[in-house]
Amino acid sequence: MAIERIVDTGAHDEDDEERLIEVTLRPQRFDEYIGQERLKKNLKLAIDAAKKRGESIDHVLLYGPPGLGKTTMATVIANEMGTNIRVTAGPAIERAGDLASILTNLQDGDILFIDEIHRLSRTVEEVLYSAMEDFKLDIVIGKGPAARSVRLDLPRFTVIGATTRTGALAAPLRDRFGHIYRLEFYTPSEIMAIITRAAGILGVKILPESAESLSTRARLTPRIANRLLKRVRDYADVNGDGVIDTTTTTKALELLEIDELGLDPADRNLLLRMIDAYGDRPVGLTTISALTGDEATTIEDFYEPYLLQLGFLERTPRGRRATHKAHKHLGKKLAEPQEPHVSERDNQSKLI
Ligand SMILES: Nc1ncnc2c1ncn2[C@@H]1O[C@H](COP(=O)(O)OP(=O)(O)OP(=O)(O)O)[C@@H](O)[C@H]1O
Ligand SMILES: [Mg+2]
Repeated sequence: MAIERIVDTGAHDEDDEERLIEVTLRPQRFDEYIGQERLKKNLKLAIDAAKKRGESIDHVLLYGPPGLGKTTMATVIANEMGTNIRVTAGPAIERAGDLASILTNLQDGDILFIDEIHRLSRTVEEVLYSAMEDFKLDIVIGKGPAARSVRLDLPRFTVIGATTRTGALAAPLRDRFGHIYRLEFYTPSEIMAIITRAAGILGVKILPESAESLSTRARLTPRIANRLLKRVRDYADVNGDGVIDTTTTTKALELLEIDELGLDPADRNLLLRMIDAYGDRPVGLTTISALTGDEATTIEDFYEPYLLQLGFLERTPRGRRATHKAHKHLGKKLAEPQEPHVSERDNQSKLI
């Protein structure tokens, strides 16, 4: 079993308290949704226009690292449109028939939120994209020579798809979305506003300087900001008078082994193993995965986005490399540039 990471950007579905807090803290309207200004501006315009025309809005694809507010934004859109939202996820729709029953049960204007849309099977994807385009569903009734195809009319629904990776989405499906937006990491001041808002809702007393110091350690991600707040509050309740001040913040973060940039032991371990084995040379994803024992997808979804954002990792055509900045942060000297081996030099001259 994987070690539970406080800075893990994923939602912990098995943790009921955590889920409850996520739901309680989830912004319901644009004015509660902090940051992502470009996304909000575009969506507000689309929603206002659709409402004016009395239509549903075009399909929306939201992508970006976990915990940045994709599911939250889907709820906000539904609330702002004043429509129903039906929530499902890629892996839950196994067969084309599952999708057909979801689609035929929708009503005009409904929003169908498909989380992890990159995990739909190809056959389901194909049914979905023709449904998204023509609002028609072709189904085959019967088997063998008696089989016939029937075309059903569907309601005018809106798909909101969420994914941590757009690359994994088939181009024809991606093309069916009128709005495609990438969610960006938040700025520390936006994260500070999110922490302050969450503290207000949860009734936690936190000094502004402590909210500020948490804001730089939350990996620029709202989900982690809320989680850190909760953990520091626990610490303050047990070891103090419940007020989050500088001392409790520092002590709690020390206990959690989260450094001033929000890196935890697992991040540091990943970087150190890369540096010890390869210095600043590129390393393939499968090799990194072998070095740390994490799955490649975990590295891509959970570690890498923030490490790239910090400039600690760089993607090159030959793999990921730990940058000078990463070496410096971990107190590692950069290895001397190595003389190419004679054979490599020979090859190079041949290539030239
Ligand atoms: N812009 C925001 N303002 C305030 N709080 C936010 C914002 N975005 C997200 N949050 C908080 O962060 C939590 C996680 O957000 P959300 O579940 O929407 O992320 P996600 O992008 O869907 O993640 P995943 O990829 O894991 O599904 C929410 O419960 C909410 O409390
Ligand atoms: Mg989500």
